Amino acid sequence: MILKDKNIILGVTGGIAAYKALELTRLLNKKGANVYPVMTKSAAEFIAPLSFQTLSGNPVFTELFDASRDASIRHIDIAEKADIIIIAPATANVIGKAANGIADDLLTTIIMASKCPKLFAPAMNVNMYENPIVQKNISRLKRVGYSFAGPCEGELACGYEGKGRLAPIEDIIDAAEECLSPKDMKGQKVLVTAGPTREAIDPVRFISNPSSGKMGYAIARAAKRRGAEVVLVSGHSYLKQPTGITFVDVITADEMADAAMRHYPQSTVVIMAAAVSDYKPKTSYRKKVKKEETKLTVELERTQDILQEMGNKKRGQFLVGFALETDDVIANARKKLEAKRLDLIVANNPKGFDKDVNQVTIIDKSGGVIELPQLQKDEIAERVLDIVVKGIEG
Ligand SMILES: Cc1cc2nc3c(=O)[nH]c(=O)nc-3n(C[C@H](O)[C@H](O)[C@H](O)COP(=O)(O)O)c2cc1C
Repeated sequence: MILKDKNIILGVTGGIAAYKALELTRLLNKKGANVYPVMTKSAAEFIAPLSFQTLSGNPVFTELFDASRDASIRHIDIAEKADIIIIAPATANVIGKAANGIADDLLTTIIMASKCPKLFAPAMNVNMYENPIVQKNISRLKRVGYSFAGPCEGELACGYEGKGRLAPIEDIIDAAEECLSPKDMKGQKVLVTAGPTREAIDPVRFISNPSSGKMGYAIARAAKRRGAEVVLVSGHSYLKQPTGITFVDVITADEMADAAMRHYPQSTVVIMAAAVSDYKPKTSYRKKVKKEETKLTVELERTQDILQEMGNKKRGQFLVGFALETDDVIANARKKLEAKRLDLIVANNPKGFDKDVNQVTIIDKSGGVIELPQLQKDEIAERVLDIVVKGIEG
C-alpha cells in the first residue's frame, strides 16, 4: 500500500548479491511501485541489464553520458522523479563515493542530485564491512539521514562467515516502507499482543485456536514504521519476528497476561490483537495421558481477562481491543468496548484466521462505526493506526 504508485530508483552495484536485486525488483513491482533500475558498470558484469528491464518493465539506465537517450531522461529528471532511492546491493565502493561527495557515474550522480530518502542495503565480504573506513562512511551517511537495511550475519559468497550478507529482501522492502511512512507515532510506546495461546492438557496436547498472529504482527510493523517504540507480545507463531522492536514470546494465556501487564504501565497505546484462550484445563497432566477405552473429561477454568484488567487499571493509555464474533457482531463488540473501557474495538471475522486478508468493523467509544471492505491485514493495520493517531491527538 505504501509503495503503490511510488517511483523507486533501484541502484544496483557490482557485488555477487546483484542477482538478489532481481527478486527485489519483482516484489516492489508486485506492490505497485514503478521501479527504475540504475546499474553501475560493475553491476552489469554480474547481471545483464535486460533481466532488470524485463522484470521492472522500464528501461535500465547505466550511462551518465548517453547521447542516444532523449533529453527528457537526463539524470536530474530521474533524480527528481524518485520517491526513494534504494541501493541494493550497495558495494563498499558506492557507500564510499556517496559518503565523500563523489559523483562520477550515473548512480552516484543521481544519489547526489536527489532530495528523496535514500536506503542502502550493503553486501560485501566481512573484512571489507569491518574496515574502519567503510564503517566511517556508513556512519557519515547515517548522520545525514540516509537509511540502512542490514547487512546480516551468515555465510558469504566469498566463502567467509560473518557480517556482510545482503539483508533479506522482505527486510529491505520493510525498510523502504518505513522511509516513506509518516512518523505520526513518534514518541508513542505501543504494546501489541498477537497470535494464539496454548493451554496444556498434558505435555503433548493443548487447547488453542487457529490464530496465525498475522494481524498483530502487521500492527506492530506498521506502528514501528510510523515511528513508535513497539513491544510485541506474541503467542506461538510461524511468522518472522519483526526487526527493530522488543519481542516477547509466550505460550500460555497466563504468560501473555504477565508479559502484557508488565509492559502496560509504561505504554501509551495498547492494541490487543492476540487470540487469548478464555479457558484452560484446571489441572494439566504431568505425563502423557494414555489412550483408554473410557472417555476422558477435562475440566476447564477461566483464564485471566487481560483486557478487563487493563480497562480497570487504565491510566491514560489508548486501549484497543479485537473482538472475534460469530453472531450479533456489532452489538457484542460494543458491549465489550464498554465493559472493558476501551477506546476502540475492532470486530473481526473468523474467516480471517490465518489469512492475509480480513474484513473488519471498527467501533469507537463515541459510537462511530467504520466498516472496512476486505483488505490486506497490512492495510487494516494502517487504517486502525490512522484512527488511533486521530484519537490520541484528541
Ligand atoms: C567477483 C567479485 C565479487 C565482488 N563482490 C563484491 C561485494 O559483494 N561487495 C562489494 O562491496 N564489492 C564487491 N566486489 C568489488 C566491486 O565489484 C568493486 O569494488 C567495484 O569497483 C564496485 O563498483 P560499483 O560500486 O560502481 O558497482 C566484487 C568484485 C568481484 C570481481
